[in-house]
Amino acid sequence: MRHFITTNDFSNSEILEIFQRAKQFLNHEEKGNELSGKTAMTLFFENSTRTKSSFEMALNRLGATTIHLDISKSSTSKGETLLDTAYNLNSIGADIFIIRHSDAGVPYKLAQNLSNRSSVINGGDGAFAHPTQAMLDLFTITQYFPNPEGKKIAIVGDIRNSRVANSNIKLLSRFGLEIILVAPPHFLPKTNLRYSYSLRDVIDEVDIVMSLRTQTERHSQATYASLKDYAKDFCITKELLGNRDIILMHPGPVHRNIDIADEVMNDPRTKILEQVKNGVAIRMAILEYISKY
Ligand code: CP
Repeated sequence: MRHFITTNDFSNSEILEIFQRAKQFLNHEEKGNELSGKTAMTLFFENSTRTKSSFEMALNRLGATTIHLDISKSSTSKGETLLDTAYNLNSIGADIFIIRHSDAGVPYKLAQNLSNRSSVINGGDGAFAHPTQAMLDLFTITQYFPNPEGKKIAIVGDIRNSRVANSNIKLLSRFGLEIILVAPPHFLPKTNLRYSYSLRDVIDEVDIVMSLRTQTERHSQATYASLKDYAKDFCITKELLGNRDIILMHPGPVHRNIDIADEVMNDPRTKILEQVKNGVAIRMAILEYISKY
């Protein structure tokens, strides 16, 4: 069985093939039925609006049966291990698991142990990876920059704690985008990438700005007296954007007026809801692709 745990699980040519298929799904040229007769289980140990709903929509459109395990009411609360839960769900008939967990590595461990029994797709693990988000982000970028090689993107915010940033840094680099990390020192990961403490200093160079949420749930101690203090330096405002010809992205959920100002949320350069829409088509294409194996 094929799993999707990090963006490294697909080659560049496979990713481009998946993008072509996603375009067909997006244009409603095709309504797949490739998952008819398959059953998918969604296991979200962390909250989600976009990832869970768009996976469920994608599965529905592909004809799969989808069962959501309500973690709070499951037997994991009685002490059953995650692996035993998965083995049991596999016996019930799960062909595909979509899992989100606060601990990095859980989807990988599940994939190793389920091996040839079911496909495992990572819906986000700790601060490590969110591969379907990175895929939909790159897909969105290619809608505006069909050849993204050489384009510059500023990734802004709590990069160190962001699985979205981690997956995007790996994937976008592979497709030749130049990445500038923009964050206060305590939100910067250790990388060889160029970085800046100020978006104002680099905004004239970039084609794309990707804003991130401050991941307060992953902070071991308060890093700012308040998010408003952080916003003074890193909130994307109309004044900061000016009339520059750039696109603004954010994986969601957005902290309004902390990450992005209200007035910018409705700006035509802001592509957040397009990212979400693309997420369904990309997840359909990924599900269809891995179901071939
Ligand atoms: N982008 C993202 O992962 O959003 P959710 O947490 O709502 O799934």
